[in-house]
Amino acid sequence: MKFFIDTADLEQIKKAQDLGVLDGVTTNPSIMAKVGISGKNGIYAHYKAICEIVNGDVSAEVLSTDYEGIIKEGKELAEIDKQITVKVPMIYDGIRAIKYFSSKGIKTNCTLVFSPGQALLAAKAGATYVSPFIGRLDDTSTDGLNLIAEIREIYDNYGYTTKILAASIRSSMHIINCAKIGADIITSPLAPILDLLKHPLTDIGLAKFLEDSKKL
Ligand code: E4P
Repeated sequence: MKFFIDTADLEQIKKAQDLGVLDGVTTNPSIMAKVGISGKNGIYAHYKAICEIVNGDVSAEVLSTDYEGIIKEGKELAEIDKQITVKVPMIYDGIRAIKYFSSKGIKTNCTLVFSPGQALLAAKAGATYVSPFIGRLDDTSTDGLNLIAEIREIYDNYGYTTKILAASIRSSMHIINCAKIGADIITSPLAPILDLLKHPLTDIGLAKFLEDSKKL
């Protein structure tokens, strides 16, 4: 399973990259605003800076919601770097744009996916990635992990190559359960990824080894 980090914070991206487990980055307008990025030049320069840290795909979201606007913006984003994946919302014109980008060899990430039907449409349009938001579903007392399982079943039934990019991850258990279900990728803030390192028996065991090493 691949690990993407869901942030535009360059320090956090560097930390995940240094750990050696980072396969890509996802962003969205809220995430970009959080780090104080503004203006087209500033936004594009920040995407470029992210691409220079990580080796894998970097999702950059379009702000347009009409077909022509999404196409224009998506092409501009794709020109920033070959690592850029154009992130497109799950709307009528978004699906049309994903179909177009797919025909031109431009990578896409279909975002804001909350149902198996939406994921099926994204795959049929040729999306590179589909992003089901599991944490936001959990917030509405709906099992987000069940959506991952349903999408996995549908994609496997027909051999769709669209990658399931489990998004809106809130905990290390989300990551583990996504891995068990067969999500291709998780995109997570840094903290749940680092939480995977933790176990009290590891800490106790290491303390004992270090103590005993003094007898050597
Ligand atoms: C996905 O690509 C989104 O950027 C993200 O995972 C949303 O997560 P949130 O629900 O924590 O905002």
